[in-house]
Amino acid sequence: MELVKWQYCNPYVDRSREPNRLFIFGPHSVTVHQEPDHEIDLTQNTGYLVWDGAYLLSTFIFDHVDLRNKSCIELGAGSALVSIAAWLKKPLRMVATDMADYQGFARKNIAENHADVEVCELLWGDARGRQNNRELGQFDVILGSEILYLSSQHSNILTTLDTLMHQRSVAYFLYKDRGLGEGKFMEKAHERGFSIKEMPRALILPEFRSQPYHLLSITKIK
Ligand SMILES: C[S@@+](CC[C@H](N)C(=O)[O-])C[C@H]1O[C@@H](n2cnc3c(N)ncnc32)[C@H](O)[C@@H]1O
Repeated sequence: MELVKWQYCNPYVDRSREPNRLFIFGPHSVTVHQEPDHEIDLTQNTGYLVWDGAYLLSTFIFDHVDLRNKSCIELGAGSALVSIAAWLKKPLRMVATDMADYQGFARKNIAENHADVEVCELLWGDARGRQNNRELGQFDVILGSEILYLSSQHSNILTTLDTLMHQRSVAYFLYKDRGLGEGKFMEKAHERGFSIKEMPRALILPEFRSQPYHLLSITKIK
């Protein structure tokens, strides 16, 4: 019997750096390990924690996006929470990608949840990344949570999107504006031939709507 209803924003306990975290999506429980002992700041090891944006993007996908018969890939997956939540929506194929160092970490979380999610290295933009992207093929849905905080990477992310997307693909990115130039991504995406729209704030969980979170949908226009 459930004694206390699970809630993500618990005013009494901060679970953000606990080694094991529980997330609930409808009838599904997902447990994700974190590695908070790494030195973590915006320049290093960011993927070893689940960022709030990952939970927000996961709930958006779980509640609003139909992934049946779709191929789906996550960029900068870190813990792979978003990929695991997306896999609950029964896509044809789900791939979690990040830099090589995170593969074991993501695989552990995926195995813990008995999820059928492939894990691949994918570096944004560079020559090796482009080759990897081509080998991966194209995807119907591309996901990214909290990957726009390094504005120096925006061009690389767009190069990766260009390779992974076909004309009917859609990418959903969620980020918090931390004043690091995240918003410049929209201008750059327009310049590179993408259509990029901010989605209604009603699609972000109510507890987070007062914070500068943004949910983007991106398609290719040429
Ligand atoms: C802030 S973390 C977000 C992790 C996860 N998406 C979340 O929201 O919990 C950013 C992620 O992007 C990955 N990343 C950073 N630069 C990258 C690059 N050049 N190519 C691929 N992944 C990169 C990091 O390894 C990290 O996992």
